[in-house]
Amino acid sequence: MNKPEITEDMIFACFAAAKQDSRMHQTAESFVDVEEYENQIMYPEFARWAEKAGQPDLARLFRKVAGEEKLHAVWLRELYDDIGVPSRGEDTQRAIDALNTIQANCDQLIAMNPQGVIEKALSVAISVEEREYQDIYPRFRDQAIAEGETETAAVYQRVIDSEAQHADWFRGALADFRGAQTQVAAGA
Ligand SMILES: [Fe+2]
Ligand SMILES: [Fe+2]
Repeated sequence: MNKPEITEDMIFACFAAAKQDSRMHQTAESFVDVEEYENQIMYPEFARWAEKAGQPDLARLFRKVAGEEKLHAVWLRELYDDIGVPSRGEDTQRAIDALNTIQANCDQLIAMNPQGVIEKALSVAISVEEREYQDIYPRFRDQAIAEGETETAAVYQRVIDSEAQHADWFRGALADFRGAQTQVAAGA
């Protein structure tokens, strides 16, 4: 029963082959790519792990969120079509190119400790969503408001509400998951 501990850093390291540029120069446009990345790589990969770990309900949740991230990319892209700066999606393409490497890394972790991988995938998902609805998109929204772009601000608000819901779903799923693990450990 001595399974190696899985850390959030190990989860991030799985995706290292797709390492995005430092996010120092995060712009609203670059987040089209972030949304595409979550839609095409991160959440589908989390769903695949959940299937492997025998957690089909969690796999369904990850896939549902992945679908909504696509929607965010569509909303944002419409916004940037208006202002004339479509994203080229380089990060997502790099991740797609590296997918075999990413999956091999992840499979190694799952072989070590599947439940640990799922727990940390959920906590990574919560951090990602929290950062988006508490920090990134509110900044874009406030900037749009300051520039008098009320319709643009409304789109960002829609994304914020959706990301906040994702964080809620993942917090609930993590609490349920930990509860079930505790029961297993107690021999229930
Ligand atoms: Fe999103
Ligand atoms: Fe999200």
